[in-house]
Order: sequence, then structure tokens, then C-alpha cells
Amino acid sequence: MPTAGWWEALWPDPAGVLAAVGLKPDMEVIDLCSGDGWFTLQIARVARHVTAIDIDPHFLEVARHRLSENSVTNCDFVTGDAYELSKLVPGPVDFVYMANAFHGVPDKPRLARAVGATLKPDGIFAIVNWHQRPREETTVLGEPRGPKTELRLSPEQTIAAGEAGGLKLIRVVDVPPYHYGAVFARTGP
Ligand SMILES: C[S@@+](CC[C@H](N)C(=O)[O-])C[C@H]1O[C@@H](n2cnc3c(N)ncnc32)[C@H](O)[C@@H]1O
Repeated sequence: MPTAGWWEALWPDPAGVLAAVGLKPDMEVIDLCSGDGWFTLQIARVARHVTAIDIDPHFLEVARHRLSENSVTNCDFVTGDAYELSKLVPGPVDFVYMANAFHGVPDKPRLARAVGATLKPDGIFAIVNWHQRPREETTVLGEPRGPKTELRLSPEQTIAAGEAGGLKLIRVVDVPPYHYGAVFARTGP
């Protein structure tokens, strides 16, 4: 999880990013690999309810504090592994959001399958990734930022991983300056 200063500079409008990838009011949402809750807070302000899931309880504590000091209460915080998603939430959801984490998943089709199994029949999985650009080109506040160049995924690689996990691509959106969003729907009954 990055330190706060440059993260906030990179993401001045998290609500705009979430709207671009399809977040809507009244949705039941999972913020998967939620980190310190920078996006979770904005999801909670729009959605009916959000479950923030992260493998690191320290980040969830920071997220809990962030939402609490903003008087936002429609969020649960769950420590767990993204692969085990269906065991971590009580029922199917409308929207799973995963930002800045998919590049680090060892078995991406497995993760896509796990997400598909937690979605309602018309549910959406939105992945926000760094573009596949050299790290030295993606500067924020004067420093190269983001994952190592070799870990970054093109939209095509992300689409292939989602489809290999049984999901159907709806659209790809650009998220300037350095990201894109790949938006998938669940397929099948
Ligand atoms: C770069 S941070 C992104 C946080 C947040 N999504 C954001 O964009 O602000 C990546 C997060 O993924 C979490 N993570 C890594 N592996 C995970 C796993 N297997 N299951 C759940 N969370 C995981 C890390 O603990 C970290 O908080």
C-alpha cells in the first residue's frame, strides 16, 4: 500500500473513477484488496453497503478509522484472502471493485472465477490497473510510482485473464493519467 501523499495526488477524484466503471446507488459492493480505504469511503457514500476485504488487517484498521471519522457506517471490514471471496461475504453482490491489485495476483483466472461466484447474475467486476507503461514514465509528485514495469498488464492481458475465469468483458475505460478500467459481467446462470 503506497504512502498517502502521492496516492491522494494521483487519485484526486475517486468518486469519478468509480462512476466511470459503473458504481451506482443501491448496489451491494465488495471493495476487494481495499487497502487503507481510499476508494472504500467513496463507494460507501454511493452504494447501499460495501464490504472492504484485505489480507492485511493493519490496512483495514486504517480504512475503518477513515470511514468512522467521516461518519460513514454502511461498511464491513473483513480480513481474508481474495481467492476465498465466497467464504468471506454472506451473499451475492452487485459490484466487485478491485483497484491497483490485480497485477499482483498469481493466478488471475482463479481470482476472476472466485469473483464471478460472488456476483449476482447481472453483477459487475471492475478492475482498475496501471497501464503497461515503463515505471519511470509514471511519475507522481516528481517520482516514478506504481508497480514494477514487468508486473503491469495491458488491457488485452487483463481481458484474457477475466475471460479465462469465465467473465464477459463489457467495456474498457481510460482512467487518466496512468490507469484503465476493465469492466466485466458474470456469465451463465
Ligand atoms: C496497492 S494496494 C491497493 C489498495 C486499494 N485497492 C487502492 O487502490 O487504494 C494493494 C492491496 O492488496 C492487498 N492484498 C494483496 N494480496 C491480497 C490477497 N491475496 N487478498 C486480499 N488482499 C490482498 C494488500 O494488502 C494491499 O492492501
